[in-house]
Amino acid sequence: MNHSPTPDRGNTNEQQAKGRALRLHAYGGPEALKVDHVSSPEPGPGEVLVSIKAAAVNGIDWKIREGHLRERFKLTLPATLGIEMAGVVIRTGYDVTNVKPGDRVMAALGGVGAYTDFLVIDAEKLVLTPAGLSDVQAAAIPVAAMTAWHVIQAADFDLSGKRVLIQGAAGGVGGFAVQFAKMAGATVYATASTTSLQHVRALGADDVIDYRQQTLENLADQIDLVVDLVGGVVLDQCWDLLAPGGLLVSIAAPDVIARAPLGRRGVFLSNKPDTARLASIAQQVAAGTLRSTIAEVISLGDLPLAIERNRTGHPPGKIVADLTLK
Ligand SMILES: NC(=O)c1ccc[n+]([C@@H]2O[C@H](COP(=O)([O-])OP(=O)(O)OC[C@H]3O[C@@H](n4cnc5c(N)ncnc54)[C@H](OP(=O)(O)O)[C@@H]3O)[C@@H](O)[C@H]2O)c1
Repeated sequence: MNHSPTPDRGNTNEQQAKGRALRLHAYGGPEALKVDHVSSPEPGPGEVLVSIKAAAVNGIDWKIREGHLRERFKLTLPATLGIEMAGVVIRTGYDVTNVKPGDRVMAALGGVGAYTDFLVIDAEKLVLTPAGLSDVQAAAIPVAAMTAWHVIQAADFDLSGKRVLIQGAAGGVGGFAVQFAKMAGATVYATASTTSLQHVRALGADDVIDYRQQTLENLADQIDLVVDLVGGVVLDQCWDLLAPGGLLVSIAAPDVIARAPLGRRGVFLSNKPDTARLASIAQQVAAGTLRSTIAEVISLGDLPLAIERNRTGHPPGKIVADLTLK
């Protein structure tokens, strides 16, 4: 396999890209993550070398860090974490036609490796970043927005006029899910903690429920689509809320089918790549017709504690590492 870029698609005289990477050295707590200095490989056929400017934190980061997903993500340690990013194309490998050096791009990696200055990635995973979005804004979109899109699409019935409950609406996925459910014509019920209620209302939810103060019993047998972004006990309390024919979609509990009581329908959903849809969503965020919320902007070195805050609680929206901050 030829890993050399062609002269007309990139500069073969460039030095090998060297930069920082936040790498997991052993399964465990925040101390298991360290900033190392690494060299990036050259892009092979169909690949692109990207200078990463921003990368967003996801719940999966701490789950990988603690080793909960070691069967699903078979990592060779030390491994660079991070599953989504935005940056600038440095060089392209042979047979890349969709992007060129200098293009601003964004992507969900479909794996790990985004918490680093330089990344080699399949060109087909990249979407051009709209001019109206900063790199920090772009990095916050791919995983949360696409997952929320798929969750709302998972309903096998028209959502117009139906009741949708979004559990965990203040988070990265929840913020987009509220908006997509409203766009589909649903009446949206959403749960959030006290300090996030106003944020979720502002996203368009019709009824925002403080999960620390209120119960959901008055919604029994009324919800057509439950979107579970929390799992555990929260998920189990939702079965009685489903209306006849209703569906529960979880992204947080892979065992949702096994947990479903007789006669109730539940499915687990994983994010899937769809660059055309991501490009469209990014354009909507740039145009201001869709809101993407940034909870915090941090540096690469701040990531270990930020990943921990994603586990223990954080302000509404996404935490994003700005790699241009030193
Ligand atoms: N399957 C997939 O492909 C996929 C893709 C993306 C994410 N995920 C998973 O989906 C989950 C959500 O992701 P995310 O990025 O949106 O995470 P996030 O930004 O951390 O949001 C989670 C939200 O859940 C809320 N929450 C916590 N306890 C709650 C409760 N008892 N009731 C209602 N809400 C509660 C928190 O809001 P408050 O601040 O209001 O407490 C928090 O904002 C994570 O577990 C993540 O790993 C799965």
